[in-house]
Amino acid sequence: MSDVELIVCDNAEVASRVVAEHLVTSARRGGHIALSGGSTPRPAYELAAELESDWGLVDLWLGDERLVPPADERSNFRLVREALVSRVRVPPRLHPVDTSLAGADAAAAYAHELEPVVLDLAFQGLGGDGHTASLFPDADALQVTDARAVSTPAGLEPWVERVTMTISFLAQARCVLYLVLGAEKADAARRAFVEEPETATPASLVRSAAGRTIAILDPAAAQDLST
Ligand code: 6PG
Repeated sequence: MSDVELIVCDNAEVASRVVAEHLVTSARRGGHIALSGGSTPRPAYELAAELESDWGLVDLWLGDERLVPPADERSNFRLVREALVSRVRVPPRLHPVDTSLAGADAAAAYAHELEPVVLDLAFQGLGGDGHTASLFPDADALQVTDARAVSTPAGLEPWVERVTMTISFLAQARCVLYLVLGAEKADAARRAFVEEPETATPASLVRSAAGRTIAILDPAAAQDLST
């Protein structure tokens, strides 16, 4: 049986709406939210901004970041700013990774800034290879238990160094929420949410230790969950 609450929506649009509603509920309650990059979450971020214009109670973090300038189109911070932050009346307090630093220094600075933080919501994507945040299959970063964020080489395109929150830090989050869309994620979704946890599928290792872990999927991404 899965330790994850699996929610299969009618289609990708509905799934994005369900995620947007989770984000908005969390924003209204206030606290620390970490967002993911990638292409999947953009509609959910845009909708969340439409549904709630006051994000003043939120401290906004990035679960991972690519080591590129904030204006670069590969920047996760740019995605979050464009799709959410720039669209709301009262913005959240922003905690971008300082990508002007070398990877190890940027990670150490982020880890330090995260020291007093317990995430209320860690919103995660899932890669077709089973990665989440920038926790790539069998990477050294998966073994780190004494830091909240680390630097890591890219496991896929874009081939730029990353900073990522660690498994042990994400485990402290009160809620870990995945959004997984599309048939190309179906195999990874089965490995991440149904099969035994393994380092070859990092998303199988990222769970809220004391809270909820929820995965929102569309039918295409969910097609292999029961096979
Ligand atoms: C990133 C991520 C990463 C992402 C997955 C899924 O910076 O790339 O945060 O973990 O969520 O790679 O990406 P897509 O949504 O583009 O498939």
